Amino acid sequence: MTRRVLARLRPPGLSDLGLGAALDNLAAFWRSRRPEVTIAVTVAPNLGLGEAGDTAAYRVVQESLSNAIRHGSPRAITVTVTPAPTGGAEVEVMDDGEGLPPEGSVPNTGYGLRGMAERVAALGGSLEVGNRPEGGVRVRALLAPATQQAA
Ligand SMILES: Nc1ncnc2c1ncn2[C@@H]1O[C@H](COP(=O)(O)OP(=O)(O)OP(=O)(O)O)[C@@H](O)[C@H]1O
Ligand SMILES: [Mg+2]
Repeated sequence: MTRRVLARLRPPGLSDLGLGAALDNLAAFWRSRRPEVTIAVTVAPNLGLGEAGDTAAYRVVQESLSNAIRHGSPRAITVTVTPAPTGGAEVEVMDDGEGLPPEGSVPNTGYGLRGMAERVAALGGSLEVGNRPEGGVRVRALLAPATQQAA
C-alpha cells in the first residue's frame, strides 16, 4: 500500500463510535497493560473536525500515550480534547514522568513526534511538544475545523 492509502486508514472504532469512544478504548487498552498508570480522558462532543481531523487527533493521542508510557515512567497521564476558541479543537496530552532528555529541546530520533507533526501540519494545524514546569511532558495540538483544513 502507498503511504497515502495508509494515511487514510481510520483508527479502530473511530468512524462508528466517534472520537471520544475511540479514545476511551485506547485508554482502556493501556490501563489493562499498565494498571499502575492512571489515565484520564476527557473529550468534548461535536468538535466538527471531520474524518481527517478526528484521525489526526486520535494519532496524536495514540503516539503521545505510547511515548509517555514507553519513555517517561509516569504515574498519571491526562488526555483532553476541547473546542478551540478559534474553532476546531485543542488536543492535549500531559504526563508526570521523567520528561524529555536534557540535551536539546525536542528529540528528533524517532518517527513518532515527526509523524504527528507532519500529520497535523498537513491539515493546517500546529503541534507543540515540551517539558512541563512541574515535570513530565506536554503535547498540544491545535486542529482546524473541517471547513478550514488544507485539502
Ligand atoms: N512523554 C515522553 N516522556 C519522556 N521522553 C519522551 C516522551 N515523548 C518523547 N520522548 C523522547 O523523545 C524521543 C523521540 O520520540 P519519538 O516518538 O519521535 O520516537 P520514539 O518513541 O523513540 O520512536 P518511535 O515513535 O519511532 O517508535 C523519545 O525517544 C524519547 O527520548
Ligand atoms: Mg514514539
